[in-house]
Amino acid sequence: MKFDARERVYGQEEYYWGTKPNNMAEKTVDVASKLKTDITAIDIGAGEGRDAVFFAEQGWNVYAMDISPNGLTKAERLAIQRDVTLQTIEADANDANFPEAVDVVYSAGTIQYIQPENRKRQFNYFKEKTTSDGVHAMFAFVDHPDVPTAPDWTESEYFYAQGELREYYQDWSVLELEEVIFDDGSSGEPHQHAAEVLFARKSN
Ligand SMILES: C[S@@+](CC[C@H](N)C(=O)[O-])C[C@H]1O[C@@H](n2cnc3c(N)ncnc32)[C@H](O)[C@@H]1O
Repeated sequence: MKFDARERVYGQEEYYWGTKPNNMAEKTVDVASKLKTDITAIDIGAGEGRDAVFFAEQGWNVYAMDISPNGLTKAERLAIQRDVTLQTIEADANDANFPEAVDVVYSAGTIQYIQPENRKRQFNYFKEKTTSDGVHAMFAFVDHPDVPTAPDWTESEYFYAQGELREYYQDWSVLELEEVIFDDGSSGEPHQHAAEVLFARKSN
């Protein structure tokens, strides 16, 4: 979705992505809670906050980062409704800085906005700003030979090559790397996506 269209959608009362957490967020809690306590997490591309608020509900200290001011306003509203707190950061993932070191870096449906030439630098930065035994949970849309580009794909989104995500984590323990192809009706026109979901742990 382009920035202006997204601002309009996020500016509406209804939560476009819903308010229930992704399965990936639930799994992130399972994985990270076994490795760390007193967790600080950042959700890159937090959207309207469904996953960031879920992390805050676990007692985590949470930063919700997104390029969309309207999304972050809704994330704050959802946090208030659920009686938790989070800190929002309006930033572009292409050059974003973290306010402090974190234990969990989570990103669902957003890292395709990090342009290919910025990826190595940004992944290195995200890894450096992660504490020992910290966890990254990353969802990347991949270019797959059997899956046509989705009708709502925009010029500011860039596919990952198959296997690219793992390359950024060669010096970490990859806990899980799943390749998925799934149906999506979000643009009104049914289509499919191919993606890779990676869970990795900083082992040094
Ligand atoms: C598919 S939505 C996913 C939102 C959220 N993670 C969820 O699952 O509900 C992608 C999000 O990426 C954000 N986004 C787009 N470009 C971005 C960028 N360059 N930096 C940070 N966030 C960006 C959008 O505003 C949007 O909220």
